[in-house]
Amino acid sequence: MQNFKPINFPQGFLWGAATSSHQVEGENFNDWSEWEKSQKRIEFLKSKGLIKKYGLENFISGKATDHYHRFSDDFQLAKKLGHNATRFSIEWSRIEPQEGYFNEKEIEHYKEVITVLKELKIEPFVTIWHWTIPIWLRDKGGWQHKEISDYFARYVEKIVTALGNDVNFWITINEPEIYAGNSYLEGIFPPQKRNLFAYLNVLHNLIKSHCKAYKIIKKINPDAKVGIAKNNIYFEAYKNRFINRLLKKLIDWWWNFYFLNQIKNYQDFIGLNHYFHNRINYGFNKNENKKISDMGWELYPEAIYYVLKDLKRFNKPIYITENGLADGEDKKRSWFILESLKNIDKAINEGVNVRGYFHWSLMDNFEWDKGFWPRFGLVEINYQTLERKIRPSAQFYRDICLANGINEKIFNQHQHLLQI
Ligand code: FCB
Repeated sequence: MQNFKPINFPQGFLWGAATSSHQVEGENFNDWSEWEKSQKRIEFLKSKGLIKKYGLENFISGKATDHYHRFSDDFQLAKKLGHNATRFSIEWSRIEPQEGYFNEKEIEHYKEVITVLKELKIEPFVTIWHWTIPIWLRDKGGWQHKEISDYFARYVEKIVTALGNDVNFWITINEPEIYAGNSYLEGIFPPQKRNLFAYLNVLHNLIKSHCKAYKIIKKINPDAKVGIAKNNIYFEAYKNRFINRLLKKLIDWWWNFYFLNQIKNYQDFIGLNHYFHNRINYGFNKNENKKISDMGWELYPEAIYYVLKDLKRFNKPIYITENGLADGEDKKRSWFILESLKNIDKAINEGVNVRGYFHWSLMDNFEWDKGFWPRFGLVEINYQTLERKIRPSAQFYRDICLANGINEKIFNQHQHLLQI
């Protein structure tokens, strides 16, 4: 049996879960949906034996979880699960399907989403761009285009003017480094490029686009809070060895802080997406991997404490905008949530201003290039019937959200979920 100490989170702490449009909505028509079906992509999957292993349908987002039509039920479920906030993204390709043409019906759709959330007293955190772009923009070169920041600014102005009154928190972009790296360096996301210059150019364009978006949002609604969702990693210098420390310094500078330093005068809060620990020992990724998720990612909940402590230097409120694991059998999720929250509490007690936690994800969804098989949801999706089923960990998390912390009763009640 684990030792238990009650934890109380600060008053007004936000509790919820996150999703993104392409991963849950279904029937999107954007650079991703078309790439999924492209010859190049399918050939790649075949060459790795992945179609044989998972079936082609695993890799086609298709109707996803049909959240586009079921958002109201899904958010009622989130309410039942104790959430008082939610993070979701709006889909650029729906809103601006052709260059300069904005589809008012789709804008209306997201207005309805926000109305439903407000009625349920769930605070919306709206991500403006979570990795997918309209086809017309893809054809122009996407994030490599020299005027991309103007295209982005026009989209931001339109959507914030329409939704601005009801949204207090905007996240302009999601995980710039992961996107730029996977799309332009590793070639595993569309447009499947492997080119250092393209990668750096895209990152630079994302910085510029964020800053423009920040100014636009603040002009429309000076009270709105604006940030990005930043994927930060705990790089551990093993045994404090000199070389390891040096490598840590370099990689911290580049991965964890470069982007944030560039936008530091253009953000009201930091959204932290956190998944990874990377132990450095004369090289990277020398992890022990004692516990891993279904995807093989190490489960190392201590890492979030270090990442949070490092973000303190920016002196901004922090919302954890993603944190979670693929765990189809729900055997580790409750433990992972508990241990992560303990570490977040530790950081808060040492003066880090953390104001909210969004678990990734509200429901199982389309995990990008991996497809549907990784199960990140608090809620399980049956992809045949699209039925939603609440996982036990979601009930554990619900009790924490409602109590704004963890007390002995919650701990005892869910004890059986916490042994792994
Ligand atoms: C993050 C992404 C999110 C989801 C999780 C597992 O990098 O922002 O969309 O795929 O990883």
